[in-house]
Amino acid sequence: APTSEDIRAIVTPLTALEGPLLPMLHALQQEFGFIPQGAVPVLADLLNLGRAEVHGVISFYHDFRDAPAGRHVLKICRAEACQSMGCDALAQATLDKLGIGWHETTRDGAVTVEPVYCLGMCACAPAVMLDGQVVARVDTARMQHLLDEVGA
Ligand code: FES
Repeated sequence: APTSEDIRAIVTPLTALEGPLLPMLHALQQEFGFIPQGAVPVLADLLNLGRAEVHGVISFYHDFRDAPAGRHVLKICRAEACQSMGCDALAQATLDKLGIGWHETTRDGAVTVEPVYCLGMCACAPAVMLDGQVVARVDTARMQHLLDEVGA
């Protein structure tokens, strides 16, 4: 795991920015692929914030992870058009099948599932994104195909 020295080395140059917390978090995620647990006290100390406050910001923004992502990332759209086409049931069935919740990764590290709010494919809902690739009109069979593809 990254040490607090590693973390400091990355974020210290950003202290002069106005509103440095988000840029720091982005820099850490860029470097490690997630926000290491040890970053909270370092950032709190450096920015004179409470640890709870730093933690709150990390959990508020869904883009920040607190653990490394799986080898594949599946984002399921939960915005209105996809909702009206049954994305909730599809998502729940997928999560149940994988045995994980939102933002979690399967035990073998194959796939992380995250919600996303509109992929610009509303006319072809429900839509998902697998490793950056948008897939539209996803039904149970197509979802199964995607999961097979990533070995999940
Ligand atoms: Fe899902 Fe727009 S609402 S793609």
